[in-house]
Amino acid sequence: MDANGNAYYNVDCISGAQEFLEEGSVDLIITDPPYGINGDQLHKHYNRNESFVIDGYVEIPKQEYGAFSHAWIKEAARVLKPGGQIFIVSGYTNLYHVLDALRTTDLQEINHIIWKYNFGVFTRTKFVSSHYHILFYGKPGAKRMFNLECRYGTGESAAIAGSANYQDREDVWIINREYKPGKEKNKNELPSALLTKLIQYCSNEGDLVADFFMGGFSTARVAVGLNRRFIGFELSERTFSSRLETVKHLVPGALLPDQRQPLLLPIRNQGLPWSAEETAQLSQRYEEMMAAGNGKRESIDKLCVEFERGYWSVLKALKKSGTLERPPARKAKGNELPLNIS
Ligand SMILES: C[S@@+](CC[C@H](N)C(=O)[O-])C[C@H]1O[C@@H](n2cnc3c(N)ncnc32)[C@H](O)[C@@H]1O
Repeated sequence: MDANGNAYYNVDCISGAQEFLEEGSVDLIITDPPYGINGDQLHKHYNRNESFVIDGYVEIPKQEYGAFSHAWIKEAARVLKPGGQIFIVSGYTNLYHVLDALRTTDLQEINHIIWKYNFGVFTRTKFVSSHYHILFYGKPGAKRMFNLECRYGTGESAAIAGSANYQDREDVWIINREYKPGKEKNKNELPSALLTKLIQYCSNEGDLVADFFMGGFSTARVAVGLNRRFIGFELSERTFSSRLETVKHLVPGALLPDQRQPLLLPIRNQGLPWSAEETAQLSQRYEEMMAAGNGKRESIDKLCVEFERGYWSVLKALKKSGTLERPPARKAKGNELPLNIS
């Protein structure tokens, strides 16, 4: 345990959860179990102290993967609070075992996220494998935490086009692995950007985050950095002792000042019905903005501020009034006289 009460255990996660985690005590689990794909090579790396160790990484033999997944996922479901949530990162090979185990619990599927990373497995005779699956499940019984505007306000435009908030919440994520030349790191270490996103959306400061397979302690570093409490397990003695130093002196909340602040619009009229007069005014202002050379997205963003309403509300009102179907008035060029069609 560190000075701030965060706990790191060098034990098997199943017995560790049974011993150190009470039922219904965890807000969020983010975890990345061993993938069970090195079974054939285990004999080459066998180490007496850590039954199946590959470079300090404890792997699960292929034939045990199903039973192992059932056992740890049962524990994960037990320790989550009602309304608590879990993200499980998985490769494709044993994904069916993880899904099968999840389906025997009361956890409910929320999303299936595809994480596309760089440095895929190089091939010449087939396509390059460059994604993982992130299974997002929730425990029923209470409202789930989803911080809709923790990264982008719903009215913010994306860099090229569209809504930044919508794009950030699409279920295909392109996030590069971290390249740390010369630094010791755990095989398959998850990037901080990925962990930050999961933690920001699905927990609040002070919440308890757990990782059943800590590896290089990446979840711990990001969780504590974002001022969450943390508890985690790692079975490999070698991995655990070599990475423990990286979390001993973490300052809770140290990563918070580096996070982007969402631009939140005042949406005082949210939820109020649109009057006929307000709709007419909205249509007129939209047409004026388009005629002045603004794009559709830009015009709607400005209208959100003027009318103090959210993006979707403005878009819906414009659609309902038929304004979006009318061709925009063409902006007159300098030497061009407006056409006078009577
Ligand atoms: C895919 S890695 C986790 C990587 C981690 N998310 C990171 O970012 O570094 C899986 C880890 O689980 C550990 N492990 C395997 N079996 C375990 C068990 N029964 N309990 C706890 N940890 C275990 C492995 O030693 C390995 O470090």
